[in-house]
This record gives sequence, C-alpha cells and structure tokens, in this order.
Amino acid sequence: MKRLSLRRPAKNQQKWAQGSVIYQIYPRSFQDSDGDGVGDIQGIISRLDYLKELKVNGVWLSPFYPSPMADFGYDVADYCDIDPLFGTLEDFKQLLSEAHKRDIKVIIDIVPNHTSDEHKWFKESKRSRESKYSDWYVWKDPKGYRGDKPIPPNNWLDLFAGQSAWEWVEERQQYYLHSFHVRQPDLNWSNPSVREAIKEVLRFWMRLGVDGFRVDAVIFLDKDPQFRDDPINPHYNPKHGTTYDKLIHSNSVYWPKVYTYLNELSAVLIEKPFNRQPKFMVTEGYVQRDNTDVISEYLKYYHGMNSQVAAPFIFEGIERPLSARDWRAFLRDFHGTLSSLGPDVVSPYAFGNHDQSRIVSRYGAERARALSVLMLTLPGMIFIYYGDELGMHDVSIPKEFIKDPGAVGGKGRDPERTPMQWSENTAAGFSDNENTWLPLAHDFKAHNVEVESKQEGSFLNLYKQLISIRQSSMALRLGTLRVEGETDDHIMAYSRQYNTERYTTVLNLDDKPKVYDFTESGKVVISSALGNKPTTDNLHSYRLKPYEAILIKHPNN
Ligand code: NOJ
Ligand code: MG
Repeated sequence: MKRLSLRRPAKNQQKWAQGSVIYQIYPRSFQDSDGDGVGDIQGIISRLDYLKELKVNGVWLSPFYPSPMADFGYDVADYCDIDPLFGTLEDFKQLLSEAHKRDIKVIIDIVPNHTSDEHKWFKESKRSRESKYSDWYVWKDPKGYRGDKPIPPNNWLDLFAGQSAWEWVEERQQYYLHSFHVRQPDLNWSNPSVREAIKEVLRFWMRLGVDGFRVDAVIFLDKDPQFRDDPINPHYNPKHGTTYDKLIHSNSVYWPKVYTYLNELSAVLIEKPFNRQPKFMVTEGYVQRDNTDVISEYLKYYHGMNSQVAAPFIFEGIERPLSARDWRAFLRDFHGTLSSLGPDVVSPYAFGNHDQSRIVSRYGAERARALSVLMLTLPGMIFIYYGDELGMHDVSIPKEFIKDPGAVGGKGRDPERTPMQWSENTAAGFSDNENTWLPLAHDFKAHNVEVESKQEGSFLNLYKQLISIRQSSMALRLGTLRVEGETDDHIMAYSRQYNTERYTTVLNLDDKPKVYDFTESGKVVISSALGNKPTTDNLHSYRLKPYEAILIKHPNN
C-alpha cells in the first residue's frame, strides 16, 4: 500500500486546479531587474515571496518568447526560447524551481493561431510554394485583378487595424491571412504537421516542468474551409467599436473544428510521462453572445476537450452586466449544469486581464471591492490580473507614449498594462529606471504594495483576507454552489457547501442600503465596505451598505 501511494500523486496534488487562485503576470510590467524599464524573469523571481504571502496557488505568465514585439510577445518568433529582453532559458528554469519551492504552479501562454512574421516557419513558407513549410500558413490566390492590382480573396478583416486580413506577398504571388496584426500570420490548423508542431511545443515546456497552459485566441483556429465572405453587420455604429465590427464574423472564426483541435492539445497533457504530475490547460475564447445561449457555448468546450485537464475561461465577469438577476440566473444554470458533468470539472473565472479595462475603472472602487468577494468565493479557478489586488486603475496614456497595435482609433490596451506599483520609490519600485516602458499611474504613492500592506481595509488586505479564507476552506474551494434569495432585484446571494462547512456570499448591487435576512444564522467574516468589521455574534440579518458584499460563515451542523 505504502509503495503505491508513493507513486501516485496525492489527491490534492491531482486536483490543484480545482479551487485554485492564479495570478496573471504580464512580464513586461511586473518587475524590472536590469534597469531597462521593462519587466523580466529575474524581476519575477525577486517577487515570488510576495505571491507566496498573497497565498496564490499559481501564476500565468503572458508570453516571454523571442519576438519582434509587434503585439508585445503575442507575435512569437520561436516557441521554445526566451526573448533576451526577459532573460534566458536558464532564468526561466530558475523561475520554475523557485516557484515550485514555494508551492506555486507555473502556467505559460501558448499562442497557437499565429506566429510572428519573423518565425522561421513563416520565412520559409513565404519564400516559396515548394518549401517544406509552404502549407503551414493560410495562403490564397487573389480573387482576381483590378488592372495589375490583386484583389483579396474575401472581405475578412483583421482585429487590430480593422482593414483587410489579407496581405499580399510578391514572392508567392499570394495573400496570407492575419486575423490580428499584419505581422502575425495565421497558422494553417487544417494541416496536421502544424498541429503536431504545436503539440511538440507543449511537450517541450512540460519536459522543463511547467504545470499548464493558457491557450491564446482559440476561436480563430478553424475557419470556413470555403473562405466565404463574412456578412455585413447591420447594427454597426462607427461611434462604438472599431471597423472590425463592420462584419459579423461567422465565417472567419469559431468553426466546429476549434473543439477538435483543442481536444488534440488537451490530450497531450495526459501523455506519459507528463501525466505523472497533473497539468491543466485554460483556453481563451470570448463566447458568442448574440442570439446564443452562453452556457451552451461554454459547454461546447467542456464536451469538446478532456475536461479533466482543460476548461475554457469563463468571462462573465467581463461580459455580463453587473445585475443581480443576470448573475443569479447564470450561476444557477451554469454551475447546475457543470456539476452534472462531474466533480472535477473546473470553471476558470477571469474578471480582468491584459486586454480589458481594469475592474476599478469599469465599476469604481466600491463595486470593484464587492466584486473581489464574488470572484474569490466562486467555484473553480480564479484568475487575478496583477495589480487588481491593489485596486490599480486604467492609466490614460498620452498619444506619444501609446504602444499597443490595437490602439488604432482608440485607447487600446496600454492603460491596463502599466507597471506594477510596489512602493513609493522611483518608478514605484518596479524599476531603477524612471523611463518605464509605459508611464506609471499618477497616484502610485497612495496605491502600492508597501502602503496598502500597512493599511487596514486596503484593497490588498481585502484580497489577502479573501484568498486566505478560500485557502483554508474546503467549502470555498471545492464546495457546491447554491443560489439563494431569488426575489430581490439588487441582492445576489449564493452559498458554498462542503460536508457540513457552509458559507454564503451576499452582494448588494444597489446604490442604496439593503437589509438581507439570512436563510440560516451566521457570522460575517468579511465585508467589502470600508470600516465594516467582521461580527463576533451569529446574526440573522444584516444591513448592507450600497455596493457592499459580505461573506457569512454558518456554524457547522
Ligand atoms: C489574445 C491576447 O490576450 C491578446 O493580448 C493578443 O493581442 C491576441 N490574443 C492575439 O494573440
Ligand atoms: Mg528589464
């Protein structure tokens, strides 16, 4: 018996993803170690103790691969190395071992839909139709010629510039497809060699010891094989959105093989010998929301992939209106359905990331605090975007400092990518160099790790309390979810239970105070409202301030 249990991973080890808290690091912006004003791997290593203290279970690192940085690393020129800007493979190995020493899992970003135009596959592919890599990208003949001028194969648009997604290449007398930046040619996923090459990339990193993957832009992996035009969007309004929204992208994204391909990737995670240590994979795909039931859209991923080791990001915290009614319905139906799929099925929630306006900027500080209570008491895997635990907000970037290629005609994503705020020192302790790659928030002296650690009721201390309670509670990590109180328009409540341990989360989403009557007595162990302290007595009801969220602990039966 003893020998058997030595060989098998312990139960909790097997299921580290379920119930975990994962911290997203945008490597450029977390910590600079060499004074070039850009974050790097040694910088991350130097901050692991902070993450340990925060009690997160893992980190997800946005890309650190060699890249010309047309899309800040999401244009990968070599999938199996590190860009010198961030360090070396040796640095990465050190990061892995230092993280693992602290019991922190490491999830890395895999960008399977496109490479950089400087990737050797693309250079070869572009060179000639005879090359070994000829079919590795999406090449098409022109639809015709207007005079000498070639006409693109169809009307598809790229997501960044909102212009034609086709770029003409003289050498091949053909167009290549780029769903994103012109320097990010789409790989041809219908080619099995491409799929095998990306699987080899996963194996490379698992051999080094990474624990999982965040898989980028998966909805683009399968497209209409006939490459028909996307229909015109009759609701397009140039005042809102970009020219990309001129079309409905029903042919350029989300064809059914997306799930088949992802299933192939998830199968790699349980190959021998990788299955000795449990791995997990989270896919990035914003589900279709027009005229579709979002839950069935999410379920396509759960049914499509091996749900023991893979799950889609749940982006309701970004996409769903913050209304009690909407959220109650979603939580009830979604977790009801998920639990019928089995206890191991994971819901990876992200309320923010490097592509979205910061939570505080979307909702204001009060509601952002309440949302942290929601977020960290939900089932599944909870992703925290770096700096959200400090209440960092979007930073408005003067025109001359804009870096994001997605900022065409808008503010882009730089505002949510500014340097992490560690202290009151030079560059907020992020770098010795005052010239950081993006400017700092003007109020970093008030909002930083050093100041907030000492401040009762700070964002940071609220996050710390929440993560710490989650880590100590089976109910919050692994328990079932039941939605409570279906009547009030502005109150949302749900309980989490595991055996006899039970918590209830209550949010007041109204700008007026509200009395909440408990279904069962309990102590308020956390409140999001400034100045509201935990209660020592068992209560039967509680008066919530506007936008206050509380966590109630019920006595064990
Ligand atoms: C999604 C990533 O999160 C985003 O930052 C990137 O620009 C696109 N995919 C393209 O890789
Ligand atoms: Mg640096």
